[in-house]
Amino acid sequence: MSHRDTPLTLLGDLTPAEFMAEYWQQKPLLIRGAMPDFLCPIEADELAGLACEEGVEARLVEENGPDGPWQVSHGPFDEATFERLPERDWTLLVQAVDHYVPSVAALLDEFDFVPRWRLDDIMISYAPPGGSVGPHVDQYDVFLLQAAGQRRWQLGGETPEDAPIIDGIDLKILETFEVEADSDWVLEPGDMLYLPPGWAHHGVSETDECMTISVGFRAPSADEAVTSYADYLGEQLPSSLRYSDAAMTPADAPGEIDDDALARMRQLIIDTLDNPAQLSQWFGRVMTQPKYVDQLIPFDPPLDEASLAQKLEQTPLHPAPGSRFAWRRDGDTTTLFADGEGYACSAELAQRLCNSRLIHADLLEDFPDAKALLTHLVNAGSLNFPLDDEAD
Ligand code: SIN
Ligand code: CO
Repeated sequence: MSHRDTPLTLLGDLTPAEFMAEYWQQKPLLIRGAMPDFLCPIEADELAGLACEEGVEARLVEENGPDGPWQVSHGPFDEATFERLPERDWTLLVQAVDHYVPSVAALLDEFDFVPRWRLDDIMISYAPPGGSVGPHVDQYDVFLLQAAGQRRWQLGGETPEDAPIIDGIDLKILETFEVEADSDWVLEPGDMLYLPPGWAHHGVSETDECMTISVGFRAPSADEAVTSYADYLGEQLPSSLRYSDAAMTPADAPGEIDDDALARMRQLIIDTLDNPAQLSQWFGRVMTQPKYVDQLIPFDPPLDEASLAQKLEQTPLHPAPGSRFAWRRDGDTTTLFADGEGYACSAELAQRLCNSRLIHADLLEDFPDAKALLTHLVNAGSLNFPLDDEAD
Protein backbone atom coordinates (compact mmCIF):
# COMPACT_ATOMS: atom_id res chain seq x y z
CA MET A 1 0.00 0.00 0.00
CA SER A 2 1.31 3.43 -0.84
CA HIS A 3 1.65 6.19 1.70
CA ARG A 4 0.85 9.46 0.10
CA ASP A 5 3.19 11.53 2.26
CA THR A 6 6.23 9.25 2.29
CA PRO A 7 9.06 10.34 -0.03
CA LEU A 8 9.80 7.61 -2.57
CA THR A 9 13.13 6.87 -4.24
CA LEU A 10 10.98 5.79 -7.20
CA LEU A 11 9.79 9.39 -7.54
CA GLY A 12 13.16 11.04 -6.93
CA ASP A 13 12.30 11.51 -3.24
CA LEU A 14 9.02 13.24 -3.96
CA THR A 15 6.03 11.99 -2.03
CA PRO A 16 3.20 10.54 -4.11
CA ALA A 17 1.14 13.58 -3.07
CA GLU A 18 3.81 15.98 -4.38
CA PHE A 19 4.25 13.99 -7.58
CA MET A 20 0.50 14.04 -8.24
CA ALA A 21 0.19 17.76 -7.49
CA GLU A 22 3.14 18.86 -9.63
CA TYR A 23 3.81 16.29 -12.37
CA TRP A 24 1.08 13.69 -12.96
CA GLN A 25 -0.78 14.63 -16.18
CA GLN A 26 1.12 17.93 -16.19
CA LYS A 27 4.81 17.65 -17.01
CA PRO A 28 7.62 15.13 -17.46
CA LEU A 29 9.93 14.07 -14.65
CA LEU A 30 13.33 12.42 -15.05
CA ILE A 31 14.25 10.27 -12.07
CA ARG A 32 17.85 9.09 -11.91
CA GLY A 33 18.17 5.90 -9.86
CA ALA A 34 14.40 5.47 -9.47
CA MET A 35 15.07 1.78 -8.88
CA PRO A 36 18.64 1.55 -7.56
CA ASP A 37 20.56 -1.63 -8.46
CA PHE A 38 17.75 -2.52 -10.83
CA LEU A 39 17.87 -6.00 -12.30
CA CYS A 40 15.81 -6.54 -15.42
CA PRO A 41 12.97 -8.93 -14.48
CA ILE A 42 12.99 -10.57 -17.92
CA GLU A 43 15.73 -11.84 -20.25
CA ALA A 44 15.87 -10.66 -23.86
CA ASP A 45 15.40 -14.26 -25.02
CA GLU A 46 12.27 -14.65 -22.93
CA LEU A 47 10.83 -11.46 -24.43
CA ALA A 48 11.58 -12.70 -27.94
CA GLY A 49 9.98 -16.04 -26.99
CA LEU A 50 6.79 -14.26 -25.90
CA ALA A 51 6.73 -12.40 -29.23
CA CYS A 52 6.58 -15.79 -30.95
CA GLU A 53 3.52 -16.93 -29.00
CA GLU A 54 0.00 -16.96 -30.37
CA GLY A 55 -2.23 -14.42 -28.58
CA VAL A 56 0.63 -12.18 -27.42
CA GLU A 57 0.48 -8.67 -28.92
CA ALA A 58 3.91 -7.94 -30.38
CA ARG A 59 5.25 -5.55 -33.00
CA LEU A 60 8.52 -5.20 -34.83
CA VAL A 61 9.53 -1.76 -36.08
CA GLU A 62 12.31 -1.63 -38.68
CA GLU A 63 13.64 1.75 -39.66
CA ASN A 64 14.96 0.31 -42.93
CA GLY A 65 12.67 -2.68 -43.44
CA PRO A 66 12.79 -5.00 -46.47
CA ASP A 67 9.51 -3.46 -47.67
CA GLY A 68 10.32 0.17 -46.93
CA PRO A 69 11.17 2.69 -44.23
CA TRP A 70 9.59 2.38 -40.79
CA GLN A 71 8.09 -1.01 -41.52
CA VAL A 72 5.81 -2.39 -38.80
CA SER A 73 5.07 -6.11 -38.59
CA HIS A 74 2.86 -7.87 -36.09
CA GLY A 75 3.50 -11.07 -34.15
CA PRO A 76 3.52 -13.94 -33.61
CA PHE A 77 7.04 -14.00 -35.05
CA ASP A 78 9.33 -16.94 -35.60
CA GLU A 79 13.05 -17.56 -35.28
CA ALA A 80 13.57 -16.83 -38.97
CA THR A 81 12.30 -13.27 -38.42
CA PHE A 82 14.88 -12.60 -35.72
CA GLU A 83 17.64 -14.21 -37.75
CA ARG A 84 17.13 -11.97 -40.76
CA LEU A 85 17.20 -8.72 -38.74
CA PRO A 86 20.12 -6.34 -39.25
CA GLU A 87 22.55 -5.34 -36.51
CA ARG A 88 20.88 -2.04 -35.78
CA ASP A 89 17.87 0.24 -36.13
CA TRP A 90 14.97 -2.00 -35.19
CA THR A 91 12.76 -2.44 -32.11
CA LEU A 92 10.69 -5.31 -30.80
CA LEU A 93 7.72 -4.22 -28.66
CA VAL A 94 5.71 -6.68 -26.57
CA GLN A 95 2.48 -5.58 -24.85
CA ALA A 96 1.04 -6.77 -21.54
CA VAL A 97 4.17 -8.58 -20.40
CA ASP A 98 2.75 -8.26 -16.86
CA HIS A 99 0.10 -10.80 -17.89
CA TYR A 100 2.69 -13.46 -18.67
CA VAL A 101 5.67 -12.85 -16.40
CA PRO A 102 4.97 -12.62 -12.64
CA SER A 103 8.28 -10.85 -11.89
CA VAL A 104 7.22 -8.12 -14.35
CA ALA A 105 3.73 -7.90 -12.82
CA ALA A 106 5.39 -7.48 -9.40
CA LEU A 107 6.76 -4.10 -10.58
CA LEU A 108 3.21 -2.76 -10.43
CA ASP A 109 3.32 -2.73 -6.64
CA GLU A 110 5.76 0.19 -6.90
CA PHE A 111 3.07 2.23 -8.65
CA ASP A 112 0.33 1.65 -6.08
CA PHE A 113 -0.12 5.40 -5.62
CA VAL A 114 -2.02 5.40 -8.93
CA PRO A 115 -5.42 3.65 -8.86
CA ARG A 116 -4.90 0.19 -10.30
CA TRP A 117 -7.90 0.56 -12.62
CA ARG A 118 -5.99 3.33 -14.46
CA LEU A 119 -3.34 0.81 -15.52
CA ASP A 120 -3.23 -0.22 -19.15
CA ASP A 121 -0.34 -2.65 -19.18
CA ILE A 122 3.42 -3.07 -19.03
CA MET A 123 4.98 -3.00 -22.48
CA ILE A 124 8.62 -3.97 -22.91
CA SER A 125 10.83 -3.03 -25.84
CA TYR A 126 14.09 -4.56 -26.97
CA ALA A 127 16.43 -2.82 -29.39
CA PRO A 128 19.95 -3.01 -30.78
CA PRO A 129 21.83 0.29 -31.28
CA GLY A 130 19.81 2.90 -33.19
CA GLY A 131 16.48 1.15 -32.54
CA SER A 132 13.54 3.50 -32.03
CA VAL A 133 9.90 3.94 -32.97
CA GLY A 134 10.52 7.50 -34.13
CA PRO A 135 9.46 10.76 -32.46
CA HIS A 136 5.79 10.52 -31.49
CA VAL A 137 3.06 11.50 -29.05
CA ASP A 138 1.05 9.09 -26.87
CA GLN A 139 -2.31 9.83 -25.28
CA TYR A 140 -1.39 7.87 -22.14
CA ASP A 141 0.61 8.55 -19.00
CA VAL A 142 3.69 6.41 -18.99
CA PHE A 143 6.63 5.61 -16.72
CA LEU A 144 9.56 4.64 -18.99
CA LEU A 145 11.87 2.56 -16.86
CA GLN A 146 15.24 1.73 -18.35
CA ALA A 147 15.70 -1.98 -17.73
CA ALA A 148 18.92 -2.89 -19.57
CA GLY A 149 21.44 -1.07 -21.75
CA GLN A 150 21.07 2.64 -22.41
CA ARG A 151 18.45 4.66 -24.19
CA ARG A 152 18.68 8.30 -25.16
CA TRP A 153 15.44 10.16 -24.59
CA GLN A 154 14.65 13.51 -26.12
CA LEU A 155 11.48 15.47 -25.42
CA GLY A 156 9.79 17.85 -27.79
CA GLY A 157 7.25 19.52 -25.53
CA GLU A 158 3.48 19.50 -25.45
CA THR A 159 2.13 18.65 -28.88
CA PRO A 160 -1.45 18.81 -30.19
CA GLU A 161 -3.11 15.54 -31.18
CA ASP A 162 -3.44 16.71 -34.79
CA ALA A 163 0.25 17.65 -35.24
CA PRO A 164 1.37 16.56 -38.77
CA ILE A 165 2.67 13.00 -39.01
CA ILE A 166 4.71 11.29 -41.74
CA ASP A 167 2.44 9.97 -44.50
CA GLY A 168 2.40 6.47 -45.91
CA ILE A 169 3.76 4.46 -42.96
CA ASP A 170 2.02 2.41 -40.25
CA LEU A 171 3.53 4.43 -37.42
CA LYS A 172 2.47 7.83 -36.15
CA ILE A 173 5.83 9.57 -36.45
CA LEU A 174 5.86 13.35 -36.10
CA GLU A 175 6.84 15.25 -39.24
CA THR A 176 8.77 17.76 -37.17
CA PHE A 177 10.38 17.21 -33.81
CA GLU A 178 12.36 19.88 -32.04
CA VAL A 179 14.15 18.92 -28.86
CA GLU A 180 13.34 21.28 -26.01
CA ALA A 181 16.07 22.78 -23.84
CA ASP A 182 17.28 20.48 -21.03
CA SER A 183 15.31 17.57 -22.41
CA ASP A 184 17.99 15.27 -23.75
CA TRP A 185 19.20 12.45 -21.50
CA VAL A 186 20.77 9.01 -21.66
CA LEU A 187 19.00 6.68 -19.25
CA GLU A 188 20.86 3.89 -17.47
CA PRO A 189 19.25 0.81 -15.93
CA GLY A 190 17.10 1.89 -12.98
CA ASP A 191 16.57 5.43 -14.32
CA MET A 192 12.99 6.35 -15.16
CA LEU A 193 11.21 9.04 -17.15
CA TYR A 194 7.58 9.93 -16.42
CA LEU A 195 5.66 11.40 -19.36
CA PRO A 196 2.15 12.84 -19.29
CA PRO A 197 -0.15 12.37 -22.30
CA GLY A 198 0.43 14.62 -25.29
CA TRP A 199 4.18 15.12 -24.82
CA ALA A 200 6.37 14.49 -27.89
CA HIS A 201 9.20 12.06 -27.19
CA HIS A 202 11.89 10.14 -29.00
CA GLY A 203 13.86 7.30 -27.48
CA VAL A 204 16.82 5.76 -29.31
CA SER A 205 18.80 2.75 -28.17
CA GLU A 206 22.46 3.56 -27.59
CA THR A 207 23.62 0.02 -26.83
CA ASP A 208 23.18 -3.65 -27.59
CA GLU A 209 20.30 -5.23 -25.69
CA CYS A 210 18.53 -1.99 -24.78
CA MET A 211 15.36 -2.86 -22.90
CA THR A 212 12.80 -0.29 -21.79
CA ILE A 213 9.79 -1.04 -19.62
CA SER A 214 6.72 1.17 -20.24
CA VAL A 215 4.25 1.17 -17.38
CA GLY A 216 1.29 2.69 -19.18
CA PHE A 217 -1.91 4.15 -17.75
CA ARG A 218 -5.09 4.65 -19.74
CA ALA A 219 -7.95 7.08 -19.45
CA PRO A 220 -11.22 6.64 -21.33
CA SER A 221 -11.89 9.28 -23.98
CA ALA A 222 -15.09 11.33 -23.74
CA ASP A 223 -16.22 9.72 -26.97
CA GLU A 224 -15.79 6.16 -25.63
CA ALA A 225 -17.31 7.09 -22.29
CA VAL A 226 -20.42 8.71 -23.72
CA THR A 227 -21.09 5.83 -26.09
CA SER A 228 -20.44 3.14 -23.51
CA TYR A 229 -22.45 4.80 -20.69
CA ALA A 230 -25.36 5.44 -23.03
CA ASP A 231 -25.28 1.78 -24.12
CA TYR A 232 -25.18 0.58 -20.52
CA LEU A 233 -28.11 2.79 -19.48
CA GLY A 234 -30.00 2.10 -22.66
CA GLU A 235 -30.12 -1.63 -21.95
CA GLN A 236 -31.91 -0.99 -18.68
CA LEU A 237 -34.39 1.71 -19.58
CA PRO A 238 -38.02 0.70 -20.14
CA SER A 239 -39.32 1.56 -23.57
CA SER A 240 -42.19 3.42 -21.85
CA LEU A 241 -39.76 6.13 -20.74
CA ARG A 242 -40.05 8.54 -23.66
CA TYR A 243 -40.12 12.06 -24.90
CA SER A 244 -43.47 13.42 -23.77
CA ASP A 245 -45.28 16.68 -24.39
CA ALA A 246 -48.53 16.73 -22.44
CA ALA A 247 -50.24 20.14 -22.44
CA MET A 248 -47.97 21.54 -25.13
CA THR A 249 -48.78 24.66 -27.09
CA PRO A 250 -50.51 23.79 -30.40
CA ALA A 251 -48.10 23.98 -33.37
CA ASP A 252 -48.22 27.19 -35.45
CA ALA A 253 -45.82 25.88 -38.08
CA PRO A 254 -46.08 22.07 -38.09
CA GLY A 255 -42.58 21.62 -39.57
CA GLU A 256 -40.83 23.60 -36.85
CA ILE A 257 -38.86 22.05 -33.96
CA ASP A 258 -39.41 24.73 -31.34
CA ASP A 259 -37.42 25.59 -28.19
CA ASP A 260 -39.93 23.85 -25.91
CA ALA A 261 -39.52 20.59 -27.81
CA LEU A 262 -35.73 20.74 -27.50
CA ALA A 263 -35.96 21.66 -23.83
CA ARG A 264 -38.17 18.59 -23.17
CA MET A 265 -35.74 16.31 -24.99
CA ARG A 266 -32.76 17.85 -23.22
CA GLN A 267 -34.40 17.34 -19.83
CA LEU A 268 -35.17 13.70 -20.60
CA ILE A 269 -31.53 13.08 -21.52
CA ILE A 270 -30.16 14.93 -18.49
CA ASP A 271 -32.54 13.17 -16.06
CA THR A 272 -31.63 9.81 -17.55
CA LEU A 273 -27.87 10.31 -17.59
CA ASP A 274 -27.55 12.02 -14.23
CA ASN A 275 -27.91 8.87 -12.18
CA PRO A 276 -25.02 8.47 -9.69
CA ALA A 277 -25.84 4.84 -8.84
CA GLN A 278 -25.87 3.80 -12.50
CA LEU A 279 -22.77 5.86 -13.24
CA SER A 280 -20.86 4.05 -10.54
CA GLN A 281 -22.05 0.60 -11.71
CA TRP A 282 -21.11 1.40 -15.30
CA PHE A 283 -17.75 2.95 -14.45
CA GLY A 284 -16.61 0.02 -12.33
CA ARG A 285 -17.56 -2.38 -15.08
CA VAL A 286 -15.95 -0.45 -17.89
CA MET A 287 -12.69 0.23 -16.04
CA THR A 288 -12.28 -3.43 -15.15
CA GLN A 289 -12.93 -4.79 -18.65
CA PRO A 290 -9.99 -7.07 -19.37
CA LYS A 291 -7.51 -5.89 -22.01
CA TYR A 292 -7.79 -9.25 -23.79
CA VAL A 293 -11.20 -10.84 -23.17
CA ASP A 294 -10.03 -14.25 -24.46
CA GLN A 295 -7.40 -14.46 -21.75
CA LEU A 296 -9.97 -15.22 -19.05
CA ILE A 297 -10.64 -18.92 -18.83
CA PRO A 298 -14.00 -19.76 -17.22
CA PHE A 299 -13.84 -22.80 -14.94
CA ASP A 300 -15.28 -25.71 -16.85
CA PRO A 301 -17.48 -27.37 -15.77
CA PRO A 302 -18.52 -24.65 -13.29
CA LEU A 303 -17.84 -25.35 -9.62
CA ASP A 304 -20.56 -25.32 -6.98
CA GLU A 305 -19.92 -23.62 -3.63
CA ALA A 306 -19.16 -26.87 -1.79
CA SER A 307 -16.52 -27.98 -4.30
CA LEU A 308 -15.02 -24.48 -4.27
CA ALA A 309 -14.63 -24.64 -0.48
CA GLN A 310 -13.12 -28.10 -0.69
CA LYS A 311 -10.59 -27.12 -3.35
CA LEU A 312 -9.67 -23.96 -1.49
CA GLU A 313 -8.74 -26.03 1.58
CA GLN A 314 -6.04 -27.65 -0.54
CA THR A 315 -4.77 -24.80 -2.68
CA PRO A 316 -5.05 -21.01 -2.61
CA LEU A 317 -6.57 -18.96 -5.40
CA HIS A 318 -4.87 -16.13 -7.23
CA PRO A 319 -6.21 -13.37 -9.52
CA ALA A 320 -6.09 -14.51 -13.15
CA PRO A 321 -3.22 -12.97 -15.13
CA GLY A 322 -4.47 -9.73 -16.66
CA SER A 323 -7.63 -9.70 -14.54
CA ARG A 324 -8.79 -6.33 -13.28
CA PHE A 325 -10.39 -5.76 -9.90
CA ALA A 326 -11.79 -2.59 -8.34
CA TRP A 327 -14.37 -1.73 -5.72
CA ARG A 328 -16.75 1.08 -5.00
CA ARG A 329 -18.80 1.97 -1.93
CA ASP A 330 -22.15 3.73 -2.53
CA GLY A 331 -23.75 4.48 0.83
CA ASP A 332 -24.38 1.10 2.49
CA THR A 333 -23.70 -0.97 -0.59
CA THR A 334 -20.33 -2.00 -1.91
CA THR A 335 -19.70 -3.48 -5.32
CA LEU A 336 -16.69 -5.52 -6.26
CA PHE A 337 -15.92 -5.15 -9.95
CA ALA A 338 -13.97 -7.91 -11.63
CA ASP A 339 -13.31 -8.08 -15.34
CA GLY A 340 -16.35 -6.07 -16.36
CA GLU A 341 -18.82 -7.67 -13.91
CA GLY A 342 -20.21 -6.22 -10.67
CA TYR A 343 -20.81 -8.23 -7.48
CA ALA A 344 -22.47 -6.85 -4.34
CA CYS A 345 -20.47 -7.75 -1.24
CA SER A 346 -19.17 -6.29 2.02
CA ALA A 347 -16.63 -3.47 1.74
CA GLU A 348 -14.08 -5.46 3.76
CA LEU A 349 -14.32 -8.48 1.47
CA ALA A 350 -14.06 -6.31 -1.66
CA GLN A 351 -10.89 -4.69 -0.32
CA ARG A 352 -9.35 -8.00 0.69
CA LEU A 353 -9.95 -9.40 -2.78
CA CYS A 354 -8.49 -6.33 -4.50
CA ASN A 355 -5.38 -6.39 -2.31
CA SER A 356 -4.61 -10.10 -2.19
CA ARG A 357 -2.20 -11.96 -4.40
CA LEU A 358 -3.25 -15.25 -2.82
CA ILE A 359 -6.64 -16.12 -1.37
CA HIS A 360 -6.70 -18.81 1.29
CA ALA A 361 -9.51 -20.81 2.84
CA ASP A 362 -9.52 -18.58 5.96
CA LEU A 363 -11.36 -15.97 3.87
CA LEU A 364 -14.43 -18.22 3.99
CA GLU A 365 -14.37 -18.12 7.78
CA ASP A 366 -13.84 -14.36 7.93
CA PHE A 367 -16.62 -13.48 5.48
CA PRO A 368 -19.98 -15.29 5.29
CA ASP A 369 -20.58 -13.95 1.76
CA ALA A 370 -17.19 -15.07 0.44
CA LYS A 371 -18.12 -18.58 -0.65
CA ALA A 372 -20.73 -17.51 -3.19
CA LEU A 373 -18.57 -14.66 -4.46
CA LEU A 374 -15.41 -16.73 -4.90
CA THR A 375 -17.44 -19.39 -6.71
CA HIS A 376 -18.69 -16.74 -9.18
CA LEU A 377 -15.20 -15.32 -9.65
CA VAL A 378 -13.62 -18.72 -10.25
CA ASN A 379 -16.35 -19.77 -12.66
CA ALA A 380 -16.00 -16.48 -14.55
CA GLY A 381 -12.23 -16.98 -14.79
CA SER A 382 -11.28 -13.89 -12.73
CA LEU A 383 -9.71 -16.05 -10.00
CA ASN A 384 -7.69 -19.16 -10.80
CA PHE A 385 -6.42 -22.15 -8.94
CA PRO A 386 -2.79 -22.83 -9.87
CA LEU A 387 -2.49 -24.37 -13.31
CA ASP A 388 -1.10 -27.79 -12.27
CA ASP A 389 -4.00 -28.16 -9.86
CA GLU A 390 -6.57 -27.39 -12.57
CA ALA A 391 -5.18 -30.28 -14.60
CA ASP A 392 -6.25 -32.96 -12.13
C1 SIN B 1 10.22 2.15 -26.73
O1 SIN B 1 10.31 1.57 -25.65
O2 SIN B 1 11.04 1.96 -27.64
C2 SIN B 1 9.15 3.14 -27.03
C3 SIN B 1 8.32 3.52 -25.89
C4 SIN B 1 7.55 4.79 -26.21
O3 SIN B 1 8.05 5.70 -26.78
O4 SIN B 1 6.36 4.91 -25.86
CO1 CO C 1 5.75 6.62 -26.65
